[in-house]
Amino acid sequence: MTPDEHTDEGKPIEGAPDGAEAFGDPDINRHYERYRGEYPIVVEGLTNSFGEQVIHQDLSLKVRRGEILGVVGGSGTGKSVLMRSIIGLQTPDEGHIEVFGRSLTDGDPEEVVGVRNRWGVLFQGGALFSTLTVGENVEVPLKQFYPGIESALMHEIARYKVMLSGLPEEAVSKYPSELSGGMKKRAGLARALALDPELLFLDEPTAGLDPIGAAAFDRLTKELQATLGLTVFLITHDLDTLHEICDRVAVLADHKVIAVDTVPNLMKLDHPWIQEYFNGPRGRAALTAQALDELRKHMDKPVAVNAIKALDNDAGRKA
Ligand SMILES: Nc1ncnc2c1ncn2[C@@H]1O[C@H](COP(=O)(O)OP(=O)(O)OP(=O)(O)O)[C@@H](O)[C@H]1O
Ligand SMILES: [Mg+2]
Repeated sequence: MTPDEHTDEGKPIEGAPDGAEAFGDPDINRHYERYRGEYPIVVEGLTNSFGEQVIHQDLSLKVRRGEILGVVGGSGTGKSVLMRSIIGLQTPDEGHIEVFGRSLTDGDPEEVVGVRNRWGVLFQGGALFSTLTVGENVEVPLKQFYPGIESALMHEIARYKVMLSGLPEEAVSKYPSELSGGMKKRAGLARALALDPELLFLDEPTAGLDPIGAAAFDRLTKELQATLGLTVFLITHDLDTLHEICDRVAVLADHKVIAVDTVPNLMKLDHPWIQEYFNGPRGRAALTAQALDELRKHMDKPVAVNAIKALDNDAGRKA
């Protein structure tokens, strides 16, 4: 049975896929559900506070199926807390959260179990288990949700996910301490992809990477979104990432999501943080870099060559 053979409500067609019974787990059918609604994540009226410190107040956000949604905001505005609220690691003071059309805030706890194996998370900082190899790290969610899978198949799935994340095959048997920062991020991504998620949460995936490594990670994210049909909730400070791969960007400020739109549309908004962020010197440099990339695609046209020279000189003067 392919993912396309499902009803519009996202419910699987009756009957287990071939071989599903072999794992002895009737719940394995859930793995084949795919959400067909418009908004896999809906947050309404979210309020979070720690003691006196209010982080979110009446925050609302809808994430569209299949998009890469960038989430930006100053440090400490509550981006990671928002992500933790959505995946159920932070119980909100108030508000309603729905993932794949199921309420995670006032629904049956069983509902939460039914959706947790349909998302993957790359936490800020990676959060790999240091005493486990990369392969064993990837196997953690597999063992948790599908304990019936035999170990040879489990190793094979882990190896595939490691390679899908752009790591060499040898990385499977390496420990996190033996990896570079960029490789650790990819190992974390491999673990996030372990369960073939429909929804991917990435918290600052390119922080700490050099520009070339960050651009490669961005391309990988975009490729995975396009080929696996993922919806991506991507927290980032990286302006290049926002320009290059995000379909829309949500801006967190004043305890809320103050705007969700494409970058060009956000840049028109008259909000001091948005203006400083997107139209400040770093924002303009990212935009110039993107314009240069676009123009390089048309290098055969003499007018483009001259424009690139002009932009290069301009960027040189600003640097
Ligand atoms: N478990 C917690 N207990 C108390 N305070 C917390 C807890 N988790 C987060 N906070 C506070 O909530 C605020 C928002 O934190 P959060 O980690 O969401 O920020 P952020 O927007 O992700 O920042 P950054 O861009 O630096 O990652 C911070 O002031 C932080 O200190
Ligand atoms: Mg954070």
